[in-house]
Amino acid sequence: MNQHPGSMQGAPNPRALGLIRLLIVEDHGDTVDIVRRLLHFERDIKVVGVAPNGRQAIAMANDLQPDVILMDVNLPDLDGLSAAEQIVSHQNTIIIIMSVQADPVYMERAMAVGARGYLVKPFNADRLATTIRKAYARRDGTGGPVSMPLGQPQPVSLRTMISVYSPKGGAGTSVVAANLAIAIRQLTRKRVALVDANLQGGDAHILLNIKTQSSIDDLRGNGPHGIDQESVQNAVIMHEPSGIALLRAPLKPEAADYFNNSPDAMRAILVEMRDHFDYLIVDTDTPYSETTLTVLEMADQVVALTTLEVSSIHRVTQFFRVLEGVQIASEKVSLVCNRVDTYYGIRPNQVEAQLRVRFRALLPEDNRLVVASINQGVPFVLAQRGAPISRAIVTLAERLTAPPPTDPRRRS
Ligand SMILES: Nc1ncnc2c1ncn2[C@@H]1O[C@H](COP(=O)(O)OP(=O)(O)OP(=O)(O)O)[C@@H](O)[C@H]1O
Ligand SMILES: [Mg+2]
Repeated sequence: MNQHPGSMQGAPNPRALGLIRLLIVEDHGDTVDIVRRLLHFERDIKVVGVAPNGRQAIAMANDLQPDVILMDVNLPDLDGLSAAEQIVSHQNTIIIIMSVQADPVYMERAMAVGARGYLVKPFNADRLATTIRKAYARRDGTGGPVSMPLGQPQPVSLRTMISVYSPKGGAGTSVVAANLAIAIRQLTRKRVALVDANLQGGDAHILLNIKTQSSIDDLRGNGPHGIDQESVQNAVIMHEPSGIALLRAPLKPEAADYFNNSPDAMRAILVEMRDHFDYLIVDTDTPYSETTLTVLEMADQVVALTTLEVSSIHRVTQFFRVLEGVQIASEKVSLVCNRVDTYYGIRPNQVEAQLRVRFRALLPEDNRLVVASINQGVPFVLAQRGAPISRAIVTLAERLTAPPPTDPRRRS
């Protein structure tokens, strides 16, 4: 019989027990140990073998017929993507690529060779197990193009986390997040916090003209159980003119390394913050870092911004592919077009047709008002509530906070 290092013989047949049979392909023993440890308590996932290189991965995939293969990209012989491509051309196995690269181009390549999931290292137990389960659950799917959201109202729970995100930097994430947070506060009179999750160079405090030395950094290292009401109260600061709270970005850019190497740090902060506010609006950083993926994953709704530039539109297409790769539901995304102006030669309805998604809101370009409001530190929804851009933000706030439509079958 064909035996391979790391394959397990003589154990009860896991498939008969309804388990997800996992083959790990990884040349670093310590990473294999970490993956095993993270999966230790996951009773439905069973590691059936470990392959230290691409060629053995192909052989073991054939012998063991695993349900899921967790494949590192950097392997000593054949790289992980080539091995994945060869495996999926022969057999019906789900491949999840692991990499330290959170580069969307890389993620796209992984999807193109037939991978069904993508894990950015380091990951935590929750992300690992969820990625494996979700990929496995979709094993009979076609793996074809992502189904695009059509802008239907999404269910809104009592406490809602909204990530404001742009797949391309500079598209207006911070301006929109700050004004949206204030508009939601004005509409709902609920407790609203703006969280600046731009770990290097976050500027939400500048837009709100808040001078504070307290930041998200004060909550780090407190551990998942160590953040309490008092530490949150000390870290956030009130924006008096609007009544929203701000958790500002770290003062030192080095903090980004800590957060991106501590997969649970941002999660623990957002979990605690969510307990103290009805709405968390998260100004989310553009690169697909651990922190950004955590925010996108935890968010109930994602406001994804594009402008009418082809490069920005291209990034949105990539963004939906990345969401699919990391198993984040694209249905929770509301696509919003910022800086709308007829001058640009591309119309929003052309973008909608190309992306097959309807915009949830169109925010007009208003250079004078936006720049003046940034320079004065007074968000435009406060300074000029009647301006078209302010009204567009209020409309977006209404849509995001609207209760889900009642099921007509339940009406009496
Ligand atoms: N609707 C708009 N009309 C005119 N100018 C705008 C509009 N939205 C954003 N801007 C301008 O775009 C610039 C970038 O906005 P902002 O800082 O919010 O983007 P960002 O996506 O947060 O950028 P970064 O990636 O640097 O965090 C701002 O300086 C602002 O002047
Ligand atoms: Mg920003």
